[in-house]
Amino acid sequence: MRNHRVVLTRSLAGVPDAGDFRVVDEPLPEPGEGEFLVRHIYLSLDPYQRSAMAGRHMLGRQPLVAGDMPAAETAGQVVRSRHPAYGEGDYVRHFGGWQEYGLSTGERTERVDTSLAPLSAWLGVLGMPGLTAWASAIELAGVHAGQTVLVSAALGPVGSLVGQLAIQRGAEAVGIAGSDEKCAIVTREFGFCACVNHHRDGFLEALRAALPDGADIYHDNVGGQMLADAFSVLKVNGTVILCGLMERYNDPARSKPLDLALPIMKRAVMKGLVVSDFEHRRPVFEATVAAGIRAGQIRYREDRAAGIGQAGAHFSRLMRGENLGKALVVLGPERALGT
Ligand SMILES: NC(=O)c1ccc[n+]([C@@H]2O[C@H](COP(=O)([O-])OP(=O)(O)OC[C@H]3O[C@@H](n4cnc5c(N)ncnc54)[C@H](OP(=O)(O)O)[C@@H]3O)[C@@H](O)[C@H]2O)c1
Repeated sequence: MRNHRVVLTRSLAGVPDAGDFRVVDEPLPEPGEGEFLVRHIYLSLDPYQRSAMAGRHMLGRQPLVAGDMPAAETAGQVVRSRHPAYGEGDYVRHFGGWQEYGLSTGERTERVDTSLAPLSAWLGVLGMPGLTAWASAIELAGVHAGQTVLVSAALGPVGSLVGQLAIQRGAEAVGIAGSDEKCAIVTREFGFCACVNHHRDGFLEALRAALPDGADIYHDNVGGQMLADAFSVLKVNGTVILCGLMERYNDPARSKPLDLALPIMKRAVMKGLVVSDFEHRRPVFEATVAAGIRAGQIRYREDRAAGIGQAGAHFSRLMRGENLGKALVVLGPERALGT
């Protein structure tokens, strides 16, 4: 039995590509006393990992160099345990990194209930991105019936759930996404009343046409010019949830600062979101969203690649904005031990 993990071939510059990564073959690690070994079934690829690789994130303050393995959440099954609280066969989510197997001491590890939702969902709609959406729509914006919520990167795991939670509360959701194909999914599968393709000429005019009365809330996943554009449709006294900076993760030097006249003129309330502040809300978030999934009221979409060797290329796809849903790498079969 061997482990395969992905390491950088060089320090990243700009948009990552598959050549920035290579797979290393090594012996399977053995759990020591108080540890257990997890077979990773799903590897979560998330935009924050680009910042962490550059040393610009709470999860990574030092830039990664050649030979370093990126950190990431994984979901999988315990295959060997010398830990009193975790047994073989348990399904868990932990910070296992870009590799097929990882050791855990139980720290930053949660057991997941695959009878409530499929294992992969615990990395997306029921995982960190889902909790982020919950924090935005429910905790920070307090969306209520009759409001209109504008959401960028509307097809991703954060954006699609922000919109669906808003709709569940009786609000309308309008999305912004990067292609007509994405917009069709956002309206058809996620129930947004409209979606505007930001790569098309006339984007601003189309956005204004989609929001004739303006937006009460803008959930921002992108920053930069898109944040500035959103102010043109934000109502006076509107709320902006500052969640992500997709526009700058690959190259912060290219980012243009926001003209502060925009929030002043709209008397806007702007709230920064850091998902880790909302850990205490995880139980209510998980129970509500898992019930919504089971009832068919909440949907989610995954953008899957197969095999650890595809992790770099799939991450590149995410950081180019080409993913159609939660970016995941499937590392192995989702089967019970011994079957
Ligand atoms: N604050 C927090 O605690 C927190 C926690 C989790 C996530 N986030 C942030 O939330 C945002 C969404 O996360 P997610 O996991 O749901 O990601 P995602 O939507 O699956 O992927 C990011 C999307 O950003 C869009 N995008 C817009 N401009 C882009 C650009 N210049 N380059 C690349 N992509 C661009 C692309 O969609 P379109 O083509 O449709 O525009 C892309 O698919 C990210 O910014 C992430 O960092 C923040």
